[in-house]
Amino acid sequence: MANLRISLAAAVIQAVLFTDSEALWCNCTTAQCEKTGSQCETDGACMASTSFIEGQEQHIRICITRDDLVPPGQPFYCRSAEGLLNIHCCYTNYCNSIDLKVPSGREGGDSSGGTWGLVELVAVIAGPLFLLCLLLLVGMFLYQYHQRAYNHRQRLEVEDPSCDHLYMAKDRTLQDLIYDLSTSGSGSGLPLFVQRTVARTIVLQEIIGKGRFGEVWRGRWRGGDVAVKIFSSREERSWFREAEIYQTIMLRHENILGFIAADNKDNGTWTQLWLVSDFHEHGSLFDYLNRYSVTTEGMIKLALSAASGLAHLHMEILGTQGKPGIAHRDLKSKNILVKKNCTCAIADLGLAVRHESATDTIDIAPNQRVGTKRYMAPEVLDETINMRHFDSFKCADIYALGLVYWEIARRCNSGGIHEEYQLPYYDLVPPDPSIEEMRKVVCDQKLRPNIPNWWQSYEALRVMGKIMRECWYANGAARLTALRVKKTLSQLSIQEDIKV
Ligand SMILES: Nc1ncnc2c1ncn2[C@@H]1O[C@H](COP(=O)(O)OP(=O)(O)OP(=O)(O)O)[C@@H](O)[C@H]1O
Ligand SMILES: [Mg+2]
Repeated sequence: MANLRISLAAAVIQAVLFTDSEALWCNCTTAQCEKTGSQCETDGACMASTSFIEGQEQHIRICITRDDLVPPGQPFYCRSAEGLLNIHCCYTNYCNSIDLKVPSGREGGDSSGGTWGLVELVAVIAGPLFLLCLLLLVGMFLYQYHQRAYNHRQRLEVEDPSCDHLYMAKDRTLQDLIYDLSTSGSGSGLPLFVQRTVARTIVLQEIIGKGRFGEVWRGRWRGGDVAVKIFSSREERSWFREAEIYQTIMLRHENILGFIAADNKDNGTWTQLWLVSDFHEHGSLFDYLNRYSVTTEGMIKLALSAASGLAHLHMEILGTQGKPGIAHRDLKSKNILVKKNCTCAIADLGLAVRHESATDTIDIAPNQRVGTKRYMAPEVLDETINMRHFDSFKCADIYALGLVYWEIARRCNSGGIHEEYQLPYYDLVPPDPSIEEMRKVVCDQKLRPNIPNWWQSYEALRVMGKIMRECWYANGAARLTALRVKKTLSQLSIQEDIKV
């Protein structure tokens, strides 16, 4: 570019030398001007130019003829290279005596090069970053604003003024609400709109478990803990069925998990299905027995309370406020919760069936094999169960209760001995047994969990062992009833002077 300029300058000088002058005098640095005292005369303009040639700053001053001042207004010879102030034309005598400066950052380099200075670099990097941060901030602000507006809308929606009556007075606890409704209401729980209000004002705290149908969370409602079982939307039928069973008239019992609310909440993207119940910090009986061994008193309390819960579930209560008989169909230590007072609450009623005694029918078409394989009664495993007969399902529950008793009794501390926690049939089948593996052991080989001989030396363990055997008969009809088990254990507790 510099060379081009020099040749241009030479051409200009040539032009100046052959032009008639009109008395404009300029400084001149070309060799030809040495004779005229480094000045030239022109009818056009004086020009000063600065450039770098081999690292040296060179100042060139020449005359430009009027003919060369094309195009008019922006003559080609007077135009600086893009972005540079290195050529200057003027029109008064010797006006081109000034020394032009090459803009900073270009000295010593090729003036057509593309290296950026620190300031430009910082500007180029920091500019977009700043813009990005700004966008993020605006995005976050908009999101929060949207969330707040959404929550507000939700609150408005659930805080229906019609709820602001006696039920929802701010100082009332869940227990107050439920007590009122179980004594004066239908006996089947909170009205649906109250359930909704309660469910939508629960604040979830932490996840406490995962099961086949979803997650279980601990939540807070008015300063108290509640358990929230969240079903995935695929499991809507299970959620509906479990909520339906829990709301059976007169089901409430101290040894059945206290149901609080069911809610299906559409958050715009998916439907959340909630089942809210009492929270029991000990978790399931399975969790509890894994963690602790129990005293004789502890064992009897757990066993008696579980039998009481199951007896209530199985029992049919006649009358207008009566209750149908209910069979659980998935009884196991993971589906029994341990309350603060170390008694049991039977939970997970999602697979239960109800007996309609007037027509002697079962309220849903029971599919053959549901529940947990390890706890399936022999008649369920080999599919000989008579599904038209409601009592068959109760007998299958009793078989599972016997297995749960075996899990409890192993953990009973008698004479300083107790065994480690084990699942029933731990020594006979693999961890996740198939129906076939269970059937071979339970139906073909007719094996049952081992009852150690030393249990005979301790009255409580002896009675427990006897109950288990009578729960495990291959013939379902020969097994004890829940009520019978409850009575036997009540007697045992009196005998052992245990307050329950
Ligand atoms: N009301 C509750 N209070 C305290 N902990 C609970 C409550 N309900 C459930 N849990 C805990 O959450 C766990 C998961 O319960 P969930 O019923 O979903 O699955 P599970 O019983 O382990 O398996 P399954 O799906 O076979 O029933 C339980 O094992 C228990 O530890
Ligand atoms: Mg469960």
